[in-house]
Amino acid sequence: MCGIVGILGTDAVAGALVDALRRLEYRGYDSAGVATVENGRLDRRRAEGKLKNLELRLSNQPLQGRTGLGHTRWATHGKPVERNAHPHMNDRVAVVHNGIIENFQELREELTARGHAFQTETDTETVLHLITDCLDQGLVPVAAAKTALRRLKGAFALAIIFAGEDNLMIGARQGPPLAVGHGHGEMYLGSDAIALAPFTDTITYLEDGDCAVLTRETAEIFASDDRKVDRPAIKSVASSLLVDKGNFRHFMAKEIHEQPEVIGHTLGSFVDFAAGQVHLPDLGIDPAQIRKVSISACGTAYFAGMVGKYWLERYARIPVEIDVASEFRYREPPLEKGGLALFITQSGETADTLATLRHCKEQGQRIASIVNVRTSTIARESHVVLPTLAGPEIGVASTKAFTCQLAALACLAIALGRARGTISETEEKVLTHALAEVPRHVSTLLHNEPHYERLAHELSRARDVLYLGRGINFPLALEGALKLKEISYIHAEGYAAGELKHGPIALIDEQVPVIVVAPADELFDKTVSNMQEVAARGGKIILISDASSERAGCALETHIQIPTVHSFVNPLLYAVPVQLIAYHTAVLMGTDVDQPRNLAKSVTVE
Ligand code: M6R
Repeated sequence: MCGIVGILGTDAVAGALVDALRRLEYRGYDSAGVATVENGRLDRRRAEGKLKNLELRLSNQPLQGRTGLGHTRWATHGKPVERNAHPHMNDRVAVVHNGIIENFQELREELTARGHAFQTETDTETVLHLITDCLDQGLVPVAAAKTALRRLKGAFALAIIFAGEDNLMIGARQGPPLAVGHGHGEMYLGSDAIALAPFTDTITYLEDGDCAVLTRETAEIFASDDRKVDRPAIKSVASSLLVDKGNFRHFMAKEIHEQPEVIGHTLGSFVDFAAGQVHLPDLGIDPAQIRKVSISACGTAYFAGMVGKYWLERYARIPVEIDVASEFRYREPPLEKGGLALFITQSGETADTLATLRHCKEQGQRIASIVNVRTSTIARESHVVLPTLAGPEIGVASTKAFTCQLAALACLAIALGRARGTISETEEKVLTHALAEVPRHVSTLLHNEPHYERLAHELSRARDVLYLGRGINFPLALEGALKLKEISYIHAEGYAAGELKHGPIALIDEQVPVIVVAPADELFDKTVSNMQEVAARGGKIILISDASSERAGCALETHIQIPTVHSFVNPLLYAVPVQLIAYHTAVLMGTDVDQPRNLAKSVTVE
């Protein structure tokens, strides 16, 4: 989603603003802009599309101000065109925004009636006019901004600068993250610590409702009741080096290839391999007393949660409910006091997941989360965190975060199973041994890329692709379909293999590739029947399995051979081919693999 950066600098800041925006590119955007205060006057440059277009604008018409804002926009209200790009400004105020002002229509009507002329279709422009209106009424800039903020409903991170105020910047947060960076004689605002890493490692995260009044020397923070508050400044570990692609063509490829290492790190943080035991942070709840676990997450993290449900139910014998976070609250599920609610998220900022977490907290649930970004809001608001050690994930399509989430969930299932007596010490040793082998097997799977390149030629011609899986492999089918559609834009759907004949089979003909995720487990023969149903209708079958081709009992278009492992760890292995299929198909089709159209890395609006 939108990226925000603000600098109260000592030299011209436009170049540094663009550099910081480059570090936020991974969030997804469709236009960008900067504004500075120069000799007391506000001026801006904006451009549709990638940052290089903005850079070109700036090289033709440089901005020299030492105080400035930068923004990458992911369109919500209004087309992704230059007119709607941020910063929004007039001759008195400039504003950048991430989020959605929910009452913008009502405010727009009110302000229009008072003579304000709107130039854009954005919800953000209402903030600009609201502050201007307050200035018109004689309020000084800080009071004008605070008064305007009180009128806003919805989710926002805002950064604001003023004409005639070379040493003032205001930041506000209600929902999406915003951090203050403390420099020496300089001050910064940014959507995350990664953006600010080249400037400072001293960061203060704003809390919901906070308003930060910044100068080069001071950072005063006011809570929603306007009380001045102290928020801790922490040392950020975000690297000042721009996370790069190394020898890979795309971040996604690099992240897929990092999996043996990061899965190993994540497992290593929970498992004592020598002893064959799992050690987790204290959940603060007696595992024997847990009657139900409620899992909520979005997208790929939700599919990780689905795998977790199979593991927790099978190995720890705990009933698990799982919802996409955007639906959970509307279902109004009865939650028993003291129940365990589990949230899974890479970014730790996903608005729907965060809203669900807060809802569950209000209902007296114990909040546990599996989070990759340790400093994120969800990590900070959880009672207990199981960190995934995937490192920064830049590609919009989640890959290594997913397998690390699976690693953490597998450990959770073992730990709860042991604590509840549903698995024995010996079984724990067997399962942890199986986990220990995962990085090596994943590494083997990464050595077969020419196979995927050949398969990509077939898939790139398809209009629709179906993925089938059964049992714990059903979520892998869903994940495979999501990966393919989000980066190649080919329509793909995942189905439980047994559901095929209840509808989706109508789609099968010679043009439809069907990718079947089916390890040779106790369910394999049932899935073979489904493959035969597909083959009988001319569908092309791509089988991902450790079973031999002969066992499929029908002609296969392609067979992706997977090593035979303990069935417990299959999901960690089968995730890799579905990622590689999507990646190579997208590369062949020439899409923007790391920043696919319309998508954002961190979805901070509901
Ligand atoms: O940061 P989160 O894990 O909470 O993000 C959840 C989803 O937005 C994310 O997994 C999304 O579905 C990815 N684009 C999938 O590749």
